[in-house]
Amino acid sequence: KYLREEGLTQECRELISSLPTEKGWVANFLHKYQGFWHTTRQLQAVLTCQNHFQAQDSDIFLVTTPKSGTTWLKAIVFALMNRVRYPNFKNHPLLAENPHVLVPFLELGLYIDSQIADFTTINTTSPRLFGTHLPLVSLPDSVKNSGCKLVYLCRDPKDTFVSLWHFTNKLRIKDMGENSIEETFDKFCRGVSLYGPFWDHVLGYWKESLEKPQRVLFLKYEEMKEQPKVELMKLAKFLGCPFSSEEEQRNVMDDILKLCSFDSLSNLEVNKTGKLSSGEEYKAFFRRGEVGDAKNHLTPQMMEKMDKITREKLHGTGLMF
Ligand code: A3P
Repeated sequence: KYLREEGLTQECRELISSLPTEKGWVANFLHKYQGFWHTTRQLQAVLTCQNHFQAQDSDIFLVTTPKSGTTWLKAIVFALMNRVRYPNFKNHPLLAENPHVLVPFLELGLYIDSQIADFTTINTTSPRLFGTHLPLVSLPDSVKNSGCKLVYLCRDPKDTFVSLWHFTNKLRIKDMGENSIEETFDKFCRGVSLYGPFWDHVLGYWKESLEKPQRVLFLKYEEMKEQPKVELMKLAKFLGCPFSSEEEQRNVMDDILKLCSFDSLSNLEVNKTGKLSSGEEYKAFFRRGEVGDAKNHLTPQMMEKMDKITREKLHGTGLMF
C-alpha cells in the first residue's frame, strides 16, 4: 500500500518493501532504515542525499532530532558565522527571513522528493551551513569522510516529545483529528518517532563528540537557555571564529542572542505569516520555547516512564538529562 506514493525512485520502492513499517504520526507510514524511522517522503530524500551530496571540508552541519531547538540553533550559527558580512543587527537577514530558509535542511529541503541540489544555482554562504536530522550512521559518505564540523543540539526527551506531539498535530489535516498524547507517547517510547529512536540518535553523536571533539560539538537546549553566552562562546571557538575583545566590548554576543531569542524571532512578521515551500507555517516552529513544559502535558507516571527509559538507555555513557 505504501508504495503507492508518487515520485519514488525504483531504489526507494525496492528498499521500502524490505523495511519494517509502522503507522506514522502525520504521514501514513514510517519505515525503519539504518536503525531509524522515516516517513516515505523523507526516506526518498535520505537516499537521494546519500547518493548525491558532496561535502566540502569547510561545511558546517547543524544536527538535531526534530523539536530539539533546530530553528534557534540555525539562527544563532547563521548570525555568528556571518557577523562580518551582516554586522548590523537592526537590519539583518534574520529579521526578514526564517532561519530554515537561511540555513536549509539537507534531506528535508535540498534533496526533498528525489530532487538533486544544484549548488551552482543555490545561494550559499561561506562556509556553507546546513541543517539535518540525519542520524550519524545515515550521513552521506562524503560528510563522514570530510573534515567538516558538526554541531549537535539535543533536548530533554520529555520536552522534545511534547513539542513533537504539538507540532505533528498542527501538521495533521483537519479531518484526521489530533493524535492522542497516550498513543504517540507509547510510540515515542518504543522509538517509533521521526528520526527515532530518540536515544539512539543522541547517543550516536554523543559518542562521536567524545571520540572526535574537534569534529563534533555536543550542546544541550537546557544549557543554552541557562547560560546562552557561555554556549555561544563555545560555538564560536569550536567553529574557528572566537569573539575578539573588541567584539566583547561592543556586546556582539548580546546582540546575536537578542536577535535570535524566542521573543524576537517569534514576533517577526515573517515568522507569523510565512511558510516553507513544503507547506509548514513558520509559526509552527515557535510555541513556548521553555524548559520543562512536559510537566504541563504528561502525567507523573508518563514522566517517570520516560525518565526510566532515558536512565536505562544512557546508563554508562556519561550523558544525562
Ligand atoms: P516548544 O514546542 O517546546 O515550544 P525545532 O526548531 O527543532 O523544530 O524545535 C522547536 C522547539 O524550539 C519549540 O519548542 C520552539 O518553541 C522552540 N524554539 C523555537 N525558537 C526558539 C528560540 N529562538 N529560542 C528557544 N526556543 C525556541
